[in-house]
Amino acid sequence: MTPQQPPSKARLAILISGSGSTLQNLAQHILDGKLSASIACVISSRPDVYGLIRAENLHLPHEVINRRTFPDTASFSDAIFSQILKCHADLVIMAGFLSLLHIPPPFENRVLNIHPALLPKYGGRGMHGLKVHQAVIDAGESISGCTVHYADNQYDHGPILLQRTCPVLPDDTAEKLAARVFQQECLAYPEAIAQCLARM
Ligand code: GAR
Repeated sequence: MTPQQPPSKARLAILISGSGSTLQNLAQHILDGKLSASIACVISSRPDVYGLIRAENLHLPHEVINRRTFPDTASFSDAIFSQILKCHADLVIMAGFLSLLHIPPPFENRVLNIHPALLPKYGGRGMHGLKVHQAVIDAGESISGCTVHYADNQYDHGPILLQRTCPVLPDDTAEKLAARVFQQECLAYPEAIAQCLARM
């Protein structure tokens, strides 16, 4: 893969805390010409995560702002948004980012999150990874999916931009359901980002 990013495209700051599967999907959409944007920076809230290796392999500027080295959400958020400002990002994309942020006024409606369930159900603090899908299965839901929303100052909360659904099957495990939902996430996030950029 040889990333080429025309400077005139909208600039995305991608926030990660883990494996970077969503980062990889968005980078691929950009490289394939299916999403008109460039990735200005990747910021991880944790060191030693696979998402940083993906960023390196994609030749994307990346940086760790370790949540554990900050005493509170306010000081952590200040550090994150000052880095985002340095990157001249137009839009902030949470991509498996698991720390709470306080979004400063200039960035209201400029931070998006994706969650692997149909919000407002099955979201909130601690709801990530297989826990989300196990909760959906345990509740006996027949439909799950993903939600892209504008982020506010609460976990997995804010105006919904787009949802995509998929079935929950009788023999589902959390892993199987996660894979089915992720297929929908791979379509939903680029589409929602394009919609959001068109409104800016
Ligand atoms: C995605 O499935 C995303 O929906 C989820 O993290 C995954 C990506 O993380 N986000 C949340 O659960 C937010 N509450 P990864 O890049 O570490 O695979």
